Amino acid sequence: MTSNFSSGTINFSSGFAKNFQNDARRAEIRATVSALCVAAKQISHICARGPLESGLGDATGGANSDGDAQKALDVRSDEIVTAALETAPVAYYASEEQDDVVTLDASKPLAVASDPLDGSSNIDTNVSIGTIFSIYTAKKDALSSFLRVGSEQICAGFFVYGPQTTLVITAGAGTETYVLDPDTGNFELAIAHMKIAPASTEYAINASNHRHWEAPVRSYIEDCLAGADGPLGEKYNMRWVGSLVADANRILSRGGIFMYPGDDRKGYQEGRLRLLYEANPVAFVIEQAGGIATNGALRILGMSLESLHQRVPFVFGSERPVQMVASYHHKKSVKSDSSQLFNKRGLFR
Ligand code: AHG
Ligand code: MN
Ligand code: MN
Repeated sequence: MTSNFSSGTINFSSGFAKNFQNDARRAEIRATVSALCVAAKQISHICARGPLESGLGDATGGANSDGDAQKALDVRSDEIVTAALETAPVAYYASEEQDDVVTLDASKPLAVASDPLDGSSNIDTNVSIGTIFSIYTAKKDALSSFLRVGSEQICAGFFVYGPQTTLVITAGAGTETYVLDPDTGNFELAIAHMKIAPASTEYAINASNHRHWEAPVRSYIEDCLAGADGPLGEKYNMRWVGSLVADANRILSRGGIFMYPGDDRKGYQEGRLRLLYEANPVAFVIEQAGGIATNGALRILGMSLESLHQRVPFVFGSERPVQMVASYHHKKSVKSDSSQLFNKRGLFR
């Protein structure tokens, strides 16, 4: 039996958003997440049809403000999410696929940022892709509702369109996974209180960029590659899907570390991922599951957003490897400070 894709319901757990004493706010969050579930079901349905839908992966000829060529499914997903949020208590919508904030209804209380289709390079390959979202309380105007620190998010999560269509979500009281039941068309709670393994020997990075990385990243990965005889004394494994949501979902389920560092390619000095609608929502979910999310050294959720599509180097996952990477960055800064210090004193000239 195929479910009805035009209406979506989610059977929230009793614990979902229980940290919000204000019933009205909890209802607003639930209504917005339910609307996003309707959008996700429509996008999931399109993905499931794949090549039967004409040209999902075709370039539209347009580019988003970050310079990425827009694919048909990017644009279609953005339209679907916009239409869904028009039915929710949402004043403002910021999207990877929109240059500026879209005002839906300025009288409404919430603001939503989204990457409507994450993993676009995988659209035609039948590899998991997804939708990422982040919910804030709306401020007096559109832009100021988003130019703030990620710790002000009240709810965030992502959908994965893969063998299952899942929703991984937090409202600040832990991270949960819901699965779309194809028989009923409802998202049902599958895992409450997710916990990321504190240690792991699995890392995710696009290794083809090795020559572009800065020294701490290169030495960390080289130490992983050195295996049990190397300085880390362990044999490591590597995974890289090319869809942030798929790598994040794997790390939540079995631990690991994800790294998209800055590198010396033009436009990549701050990495590839965007702080507002990729790093912040994933960081919120990861922290609520006991993991850590940084820019390599500093907490993502403490970083202030200066522009909507601002990129940020992004490292997240199991506590121990993320802290290890931070120590490599710290070592580098101590070394460079001391060498600068010595240079200043002319001791090593
Ligand atoms: P998007 O499709 O929304 O632009 O996101 C793609 C991102 C992220 O999902 C993934 O981790 C990363 O780009 C992959 O980058 P590379 O293709 O450079 O490996
Ligand atoms: Mn993305
Ligand atoms: Mn995208």
